[in-house]
Amino acid sequence: MSDITPRTPRTPDTPLTDRLTHPRYPRSNRYDARWTIENQMGPHALWLLEWLAPALGLDRLRPGARVLDLGCGRAMTSVFLAREYDVQVVAADLWVKPDDNAVRLAQAGVADRVLPVRAEAHDLPFAEGSFDAIVSVDAYHYFGTDDLYLPTVTRLLRPGGRIGVVVPSVREELDGTEPPARLAPHWEPGFWSFHSPAWWRRNWTRTGAVTVETADWLQDGWRDWLLWSEVCAEESPSEFMAGLARDSVDLINADEGRLLGFTRVVGRRI
Ligand SMILES: C[S@@+](CC[C@H](N)C(=O)[O-])C[C@H]1O[C@@H](n2cnc3c(N)ncnc32)[C@H](O)[C@@H]1O
Repeated sequence: MSDITPRTPRTPDTPLTDRLTHPRYPRSNRYDARWTIENQMGPHALWLLEWLAPALGLDRLRPGARVLDLGCGRAMTSVFLAREYDVQVVAADLWVKPDDNAVRLAQAGVADRVLPVRAEAHDLPFAEGSFDAIVSVDAYHYFGTDDLYLPTVTRLLRPGGRIGVVVPSVREELDGTEPPARLAPHWEPGFWSFHSPAWWRRNWTRTGAVTVETADWLQDGWRDWLLWSEVCAEESPSEFMAGLARDSVDLINADEGRLLGFTRVVGRRI
């Protein structure tokens, strides 16, 4: 377990920090690079949340507003939400134990503002209207592509509250049942849960549960994904995570931005 907390690195690691300093993500740049690598579970969660934040209106939430971080993984985004926006966060995840996240949250100095819970996205133990906002970074595609799903989670928002997600995506929906030939060697069945901004807009709009305010594509997001994956492939302390990052490098290099990237979707509860 790392004892690194954001903004207080154990040892300065200037080359790594320089490599991951990104002009598009000034807030994320203030977090310790090793901490983000040690706790990553896929694409750079803080970069994606920082992209989502203005569309979701996180800066406009009142101090102490209640935010659900759904599929928070190792809770880096929960730390970011508490620190950057002064909100109360429920850090909900299925695979990562709340006890593990509790240690990380205490180390990051936000134990008083983030409550870690184990929760399955189809069985969320909260009352109607419990949250001012719901955030989900690189997780919603695991459970949210079901046409019937969105209203089950937006009921947890107060009326007028917003849900915002960022998911790995395709620019346009693929026809047929095979991936493009260039991606076939790297393709996994789970990638069929990647959808386009237009697909997400329609999926959410048709539910009648939200007004979709944003459904757009991260320009050059694949370049961010590639840079981050290259760094994690070299620097991750977990051989398993380094291997997954190498797979991502191969996938993204084969694609060169033609198909794969990220979508953000924001809906306001009706
Ligand atoms: C790729 S990880 C991303 C974690 C984190 N958001 C991040 O970006 O670092 C996906 C997360 O989704 C969560 N997840 C997947 N299916 C879920 C479900 N049915 N209910 C709740 N969480 C789920 C997993 O527990 C996992 O931590």
